[in-house]
Amino acid sequence: MGRDKVTVRTLHRMKGRGEKIAMLTAYDYPMARAVDEAGIDVILVGDSVGMVVLGYPTTLPVTVDDMVHHCRAVARGVTRALVVADLPFMSYQVSREDALRNAGRLVKEAGAEAVKVEGGREILEAVEAVVTAGIPVMGHLGLTPQAYHRMGGYRVQARSPQEADRLLKDAAALEAAGVFSLVLEGIPGAVAKRVTETLGVPSIGIGAGPFCDGQVLVTHDILGLQEDLSPKFVKRYLQGRPLFVEAMRQFRDEVRAGTFPAAEHTYGSDPSTTLDAP
Ligand code: KIV
Repeated sequence: MGRDKVTVRTLHRMKGRGEKIAMLTAYDYPMARAVDEAGIDVILVGDSVGMVVLGYPTTLPVTVDDMVHHCRAVARGVTRALVVADLPFMSYQVSREDALRNAGRLVKEAGAEAVKVEGGREILEAVEAVVTAGIPVMGHLGLTPQAYHRMGGYRVQARSPQEADRLLKDAAALEAAGVFSLVLEGIPGAVAKRVTETLGVPSIGIGAGPFCDGQVLVTHDILGLQEDLSPKFVKRYLQGRPLFVEAMRQFRDEVRAGTFPAAEHTYGSDPSTTLDAP
């Protein structure tokens, strides 16, 4: 695929052709630019920002203002990928008016091109209202981090036949309500396969095995930038944190030794010299 702007229609075509969809998170401008340059199809401004960047133990404290702030920065850095922003906990569950107002803010104020919501049949009214307003909605089923307390922690979901059936019904209901795609998180691979084969819209898996139409991971996880959490489904493509720490140590050592800044980092008094001149 070339550099054409990714839209919800692109993702549908990709499912139709059996092309896998790659999705990653970003929470700020430089990371968004890098993810976009890497040719990732969908950039998710996830409410995982709360845990990954803001240091909260769960995603629950994240506010709509937090999401607007981070999504704005991401949107400025993206030219090709589809930008999807999470509606955070309690910003769409109370009323369809809340859902509309908050989804609208993410699009109007922050440059999101779609929003993501967690849950099944209990949130259909909100999904329908937002889709009817012209905002594409991505669903999210299985391990839904906003239901942390109900799940009793981050636990694999839909392991029993009854739970798997319930998840399939939720997926069908979300599709009927108009979602353009569905994240399946933390469920057995066989259940994700059934959902993927049943749905017309693309499924995006995270900890849901290889049979989904696409895969999503948290960028900081694949780059090895957060080492405290290491779920089985994460693959680290880089051990980034030790590299960062080593670079910072070198800077500290050179400052202490007086070897930084050297002559090449120092300006003379020629008034025509620019900031980035050699
Ligand atoms: O918030 C998030 O980053 C997510 C994904 C990991 C699916 O919801």
